[in-house]
Amino acid sequence: MLVLGFQGSPRKKGNTFFLLSAFMAAVEKLGAQIRIIDVAQKKITPCMEYVVCEKKGYCPIDDDLKTEIYPLIRQAEVVVLASPIFFYNMTAQLKAVVDRCQTFWARKYKLKLSDPAKKTKRGFFLSVGATRGKNLFEGLQLTAQYFFDAIDAQFAGSLTYRGIEGPKDMARHPTVLADVEKAAAGLIQPLLDRKKILFACRENACRSQMAGAFAQYLAGDKLEVINGGSQPADKVNPDMVTVMHETGIDMAFRVPQSIESAISSTIPQYIVTMGCGEECPFVPGAQMRDWDLPDPAGKPLDFMRQVRDEIENRVKSLIKELN
Ligand SMILES: Cc1cc2nc3c(=O)[nH]c(=O)nc-3n(C[C@H](O)[C@H](O)[C@H](O)COP(=O)(O)O)c2cc1C
Repeated sequence: MLVLGFQGSPRKKGNTFFLLSAFMAAVEKLGAQIRIIDVAQKKITPCMEYVVCEKKGYCPIDDDLKTEIYPLIRQAEVVVLASPIFFYNMTAQLKAVVDRCQTFWARKYKLKLSDPAKKTKRGFFLSVGATRGKNLFEGLQLTAQYFFDAIDAQFAGSLTYRGIEGPKDMARHPTVLADVEKAAAGLIQPLLDRKKILFACRENACRSQMAGAFAQYLAGDKLEVINGGSQPADKVNPDMVTVMHETGIDMAFRVPQSIESAISSTIPQYIVTMGCGEECPFVPGAQMRDWDLPDPAGKPLDFMRQVRDEIENRVKSLIKELN
């Protein structure tokens, strides 16, 4: 499970850096994978309002958001925004990231497509400000909540500190480390405690992708879902993407991965294969089952729909059984 943190301050080793680093260290200690993006160090163009995202569902700007950050936002189950207060909101550097996530908003509200992980994804923010006013974090809170909604994450809370100005003030705060450990555990532990399940097939381009997406979509709060293939394809099957979009589940940005990569950080307790025979993976201690489904790749779209519906029904029964 990936937790993605955005360090929004231009000050390299200031208060936000300290706060986010402590939070992410606590998250990692609990067993999650972490990744921190130092936004001031990235090449990020502010939104140019080309409106391509609203018409076609993607952002045409070619920078670090496209190559690195969008895929991480899609992969992460928890996204943490960290920023000092600059004029009652987040920094311009972080706001540029947020504005460029209009492309997620467009897929959700214009194209009516949901991230398969929407039941799981959580958003949390961390902030510091020099003054002590009652409304200090309200601007940031509104912006952050709207951002989390756009990326299909549920807002799960915040940790904020007033009266923090000099670059070492946060590190000197008497309760910050205890606060961070408590908040990180509350946020992460329920997700780490989920049952872990692997859906596997040969190419991880079609059947295991659909099964994984339905499992995440229907029960991502109870199941940690991974999927992989014994011989992963270069890209997911476009017909699979089309028939999944008919159900409202967004599969356009999924990328096939190997089973080794899928299980490198998450050891599944359950493995479901899609009918790949002798190429099924072996994970010691995992309960295995094979659904023996026909491969719909290269067949008419209606056949892909039948396999999709069959997979959805099987996933629903499996969820009932596992719970
Ligand atoms: C451009 C700018 C705008 C700021 N605006 C505010 C503000 O509106 N309210 C406030 O309390 N502090 C404000 N501050 C102070 C910072 O929030 C504070 O110094 C913070 O601790 C900096 O965190 P950092 O070390 O992570 O950069 C501002 C600082 C700068 C540089």
